[in-house]
Amino acid sequence: MTGDRQALRLTVLAGDGIGPEVTGAALQVLETALQSAGIDLVRSPQLIGGAALDATGDPLPEASLSAACSADAVFLGAVGGPAWDSAPVRPEAGLLRLRSGLGAFANLRPVRVWPGLEKHSPLRPEVLRGADLLFIRELTGGIYFGRPKGVAGEAPNRHSVDTSEYSEMEVRRAAEVAFRAARQRRSKVTSVDKANVLATSQLWRQVVTEVGQEFPDVSLEHCLVDSFALRLLQQPGAFDVVVTENLFGDILTDEAGALTGSLGVLPSASGGGDGPWLYEPVHGSAPDIAGKGIANPLGAIATVALLLRLTVKREELAAAVEEAVAAVIAEGLLTPDLGGSESTESVTEAVIRRLPVGAAA
Ligand code: NAD
Ligand code: IPM
Ligand code: MN
Repeated sequence: MTGDRQALRLTVLAGDGIGPEVTGAALQVLETALQSAGIDLVRSPQLIGGAALDATGDPLPEASLSAACSADAVFLGAVGGPAWDSAPVRPEAGLLRLRSGLGAFANLRPVRVWPGLEKHSPLRPEVLRGADLLFIRELTGGIYFGRPKGVAGEAPNRHSVDTSEYSEMEVRRAAEVAFRAARQRRSKVTSVDKANVLATSQLWRQVVTEVGQEFPDVSLEHCLVDSFALRLLQQPGAFDVVVTENLFGDILTDEAGALTGSLGVLPSASGGGDGPWLYEPVHGSAPDIAGKGIANPLGAIATVALLLRLTVKREELAAAVEEAVAAVIAEGLLTPDLGGSESTESVTEAVIRRLPVGAAA
């Protein structure tokens, strides 16, 4: 490496199940794209999740968090699996600490239906038409981080508690991300809450309304989460930017995965605080297919495009990756979750071959 070459320092947290499979695929694509721009990829692999629990007893060892905090960006595969279902500390706790430690309060989850995948969606093509959403999921607050939490007592008198809390500041900063994003898109924000029942949602609605007044050029609608879950399937094309709290965002973005034909194609990027951005596909460790070499790598590869756009700030590289993904899908080179018979490896190779830079590499 010469002194004047640029480098991207990436902390890689491959995790569990299909996490390492899709991470390996994504990083091949990232390396190829960066090479074309004369940027070196400097990887720092670290432990997280069940793999970290097994090795150290901690799902996010201090070394992993400090490496992540000092990187240019963090790439995560997935954590969790049945092997740790009854562990006293769960692998998922490591992911929550990572998000919180990075200050990654805004989770961007774009959902679009790639041309060629319409027939793999349970929705009819005419219902799907025009579906192109950006979810902004609040990621470091709400019931995921409530205290106290836990299960206590003895059967038959066990009881459990989870608490949900939001401050005005937490709602405001997530809402600001949503309104700013809407300005770059179709200028519409849908805020999803449960303000007819929850106090946190009543605050959410008030604060989002106030932030909305600072963005008079963006239209704002409020929608209760139960009816939004219905409308997402009935008229997904009616939405642009959707902003919601942590738990609702988790559930609704898996539901949105059905629109696109497979959860395995959805990317995400999280940030907003002082720390580096965290990039992870939306899907989990998929224990049912782990180790078989058939995980769909496109969610992780589309996540690389977000990294190139938001951290490396090279829109042309991001667009090249997305175009290569679109070409592979259009040609029907699909893994079994989308009805195809390709492998993780063959789809990844096909994407790389279709990168303008991949041909030269
Ligand atoms: P999951 O997302 O792992 O799998 C749900 C379904 O989608 C499965 O049938 C799976 O085979 C399929 N699927 C998911 N990703 C796929 C891909 N790339 N290619 C093909 N098929 C894919 O959800 P789950 O089974 O409920 O959870 C399994 C574990 O993953 C749990 O421990 C959960 O906590 C964890 N999880 C982790 C993350 C993360 O690390 N970000 C996200 C979600 C779930
Ligand atoms: C996701 C996952 C995580 C979440 C779990 C694994 C903690 O489902 O990233 O969507 O609920 O946030
Ligand atoms: Mn989830």
